[in-house]
Amino acid sequence: MKRVVQPELLDSLPPEVPQARGSRRDLQRINWWMGHHGLLARTLRQRLPAQLPGRLLEIGAGDGEFFLRLARQFTPPWSPPRATLLDMQDIVAPSTLAACARLGWQVDTEVADVFAAVPRSEPVAAVFANLFLHHFADAALARLLLKMSQQTDLFIAVEPRRVAQPWICGQLLRLIGCNAVTLHDGVVSVRAGFAGRELSELWPDPAGWHLTERRAGLFSHLFVAQRAP
Ligand SMILES: C[S@@+](CC[C@H](N)C(=O)[O-])C[C@H]1O[C@@H](n2cnc3c(N)ncnc32)[C@H](O)[C@@H]1O
Repeated sequence: MKRVVQPELLDSLPPEVPQARGSRRDLQRINWWMGHHGLLARTLRQRLPAQLPGRLLEIGAGDGEFFLRLARQFTPPWSPPRATLLDMQDIVAPSTLAACARLGWQVDTEVADVFAAVPRSEPVAAVFANLFLHHFADAALARLLLKMSQQTDLFIAVEPRRVAQPWICGQLLRLIGCNAVTLHDGVVSVRAGFAGRELSELWPDPAGWHLTERRAGLFSHLFVAQRAP
């Protein structure tokens, strides 16, 4: 089945309206059900080279709640751990940043369209994305992956897996009590999700990188690009 990318409601709703707030809360439950914090924590633990300290950059970080839960499970092998949360919406609450600080993390936010964001001058040990890349059609995605490959030696994405019957995901989201925005965006996300080696095929210069791409759990898709030594 072909990848179909359509707009998601959460991207255009004002962040303060109840439907948007509810949908962001749903996202955290979905991340928990899909085991995305643990999957990303394990992948970072396995792949982050201890001898190359640097900032972590999360793109499409939303309200930062995903990062906070990740930070409870993972700390890089250097101190102090630093991270930037980039999203086009300015929605990370001060209390979320304070909770990260209590865990020992120095976290800042960048409000920007990822395509327009200025590359960071300091070393970026890893860039990662959770439920984000599927927002973009292949041509834009290829530009985004090129930009990321120029900033870091390690890129990780956890995305929806494209399955033949996306409406099943809608039924499961309904069962766990998700709101109408999440039900719409969930089905749209699965249709725009990934399968096979679709992200590897869009990665620039595959010969200079180790690329891993696989199914993870029932509905997730993991992509890791690590620069070859
Ligand atoms: C489905 S949410 C995922 C949020 C977070 N990663 C999580 O798992 O909770 C996707 C996020 O991407 C952001 N986004 C969409 N297009 C973007 C762009 N071009 N640049 C930066 N952020 C963008 C949206 O504002 C939204 O917060």
